[in-house]
Amino acid sequence: MCGIVGYVGLRDTLGIVVSGLHRLEYRGYDSAGIALCVPGKRQISVVKTPGKISDLETLIAAKLVSDADRTAPIGIGHTRWATHGLPNEANAHPHLSMNGEIAVVHNGIVENYAAIKQRLTQQGYKFSSDTDTEVIAHLIQECYQGDLRSAVATALKKLEGTYGIAVVSSRHPDTLVAARKGSPIAVGICEDETLVASDISAIVNYTKQVIFLDDGDLLTAKAGDVDITSSKNVPVTRPPTFVDWDVGQIEKGGYEHFMLKEIHEQPQAISYAIRGRLLPDEGTTKLSGMQMDPREMARIDRISIAACGTSFYAGMVGKYYFEDFASIPTEIEQAAEFRYRNPIIQRDTCMLAISQSGETADTLAAVREAKRKGSMVLGICNVVGSTIARESGRGVYLHAGPEIGVASTKAFTCQVAVLAMMAIAFGRTRRLSTSDGAEMVKAISRLPDIARRTLEQEDAIRRVAEKYADCEDFFYIGRGYMFPAALEGALKLKEISYIHAEGYHAAELKHGPIALLQKEVPVVATVADIAGKEKTLSNMQECRARSAPVIAIATEGDDSVNAVSEEVIRVPKCPDFLSPVPVVIAEQIFAYHMARLRGCPIDQPRNLAKSVTVE
Ligand code: F6R
Repeated sequence: MCGIVGYVGLRDTLGIVVSGLHRLEYRGYDSAGIALCVPGKRQISVVKTPGKISDLETLIAAKLVSDADRTAPIGIGHTRWATHGLPNEANAHPHLSMNGEIAVVHNGIVENYAAIKQRLTQQGYKFSSDTDTEVIAHLIQECYQGDLRSAVATALKKLEGTYGIAVVSSRHPDTLVAARKGSPIAVGICEDETLVASDISAIVNYTKQVIFLDDGDLLTAKAGDVDITSSKNVPVTRPPTFVDWDVGQIEKGGYEHFMLKEIHEQPQAISYAIRGRLLPDEGTTKLSGMQMDPREMARIDRISIAACGTSFYAGMVGKYYFEDFASIPTEIEQAAEFRYRNPIIQRDTCMLAISQSGETADTLAAVREAKRKGSMVLGICNVVGSTIARESGRGVYLHAGPEIGVASTKAFTCQVAVLAMMAIAFGRTRRLSTSDGAEMVKAISRLPDIARRTLEQEDAIRRVAEKYADCEDFFYIGRGYMFPAALEGALKLKEISYIHAEGYHAAELKHGPIALLQKEVPVVATVADIAGKEKTLSNMQECRARSAPVIAIATEGDDSVNAVSEEVIRVPKCPDFLSPVPVVIAEQIFAYHMARLRGCPIDQPRNLAKSVTVE
């Protein structure tokens, strides 16, 4: 979704802003732009265009020819994912005030923009876009009385909705003002320059010291100097968070796509997710971020999980874990449903919010609703310092490293590993014995190796993809632990290859979808060697009886699938509860090669955004 980057300092402002925009490309966008304040020039220089950052660079080379433009001491940039108005040049950010002296980039949605626009239009303000954002630029001009920060503060009071904004003015070419309400803004702290971004990947190659704004915060940034005030206009002193990412992690490192790189990073990502957290001698796990002693854990009598997309499917696996290992009744709900359904939260309910980005709007709203109802909330996030991680207060980080590809891959397998560790910890405060716990913990310690051995199947999986790359419809089926794996496999395929794919419980196929099966509609059957496998084998027979080709994802050495499948993709054998990990890795590889064979833009699929910060 939309991305913001800003820079104040004496280095190559233009180059730093544009390189920040490149780093934000993965989030998904349809237009982009930059604004630079050149000392002595009243009109801010703005270049924007629909299309890619490379289109923007071509335009910049043609339009910003003067040295003064190129060495401006302050600049902002934006990648836009259209909400109000088409993705065209007029609607791209930055937006200028009518006098051309104030430029604004904005993430979020101004809900009362129509009323503000009408009032400003009656006062003679001219609008040149269909966006909600343009009202912010005009409002700041209206409120300006010589001090940019106060003008922004006054203007923001008139807005309803959500925003992360960065504002510059040609009258203050040393000052960048930024603010946040519902849409993230991070400030990069350096000795003699300051960076601002909606996503730390845009700035992490310049600094690892980052302050995350809270809702209501207003930032005034000068080169090497930041001043933050809270919504109550009280100065905020917040120590910077150290971002433990290195730049190599947000580059492709020789892979053709981030998605492929991240698929291959899974053995390492899982080993980071479990490192220091397994206690085989005690048959349990240690997740300090949960900040719960055994007595508190033993009191929890219900778990409620809220998440979206791939994180939701990981949560489904988690539900089985909490019920199987700890006998805690667990429900899982799409976060969007949770937030509006008035869910029942009892005193000893613990809510788990699962989110790779930690910024998904619906999951965040579910966290806030659960907290309002008095629930304890644990966040399971990947991005350190993200809003869900901070607002949950406690929880477990994945430590999977940055996930840049829009399709979530390593986050899923690490979420599953974290959920298994959590459920074991809860289980040990109940009926789970030391020896059973120890067995499970040892199995988890072998997970990186299971992932590595699954990756060795890539060539074989690619060959299967080559046979089916022209198909337009797929079904994925599974039961038990394989049910969420089937749903996740279908999601991966549809989002990056644009093939229509549906995931179903294997038993549900007969209740309707089977009507669609024919020889052009392959069925991917996930049949790891787990309880219920025999029943899935019968379901595969039923598919073949309708001429649908069956592609089995099955355990090494399991010959029972051979007679009921056209193709068999092999994954290493592992205990039942961990089988979603190798099966989903195989599905990721399959989806990747299907998309590649069809020439799809794998890292930036159409219409998709990496983190969905609007409802
Ligand atoms: C699918 C995908 C999305 C996300 C979903 C939740 O590959 O990436 O379905 O899983 O938008 O995102 P997070 O986990 O960041 O809350």
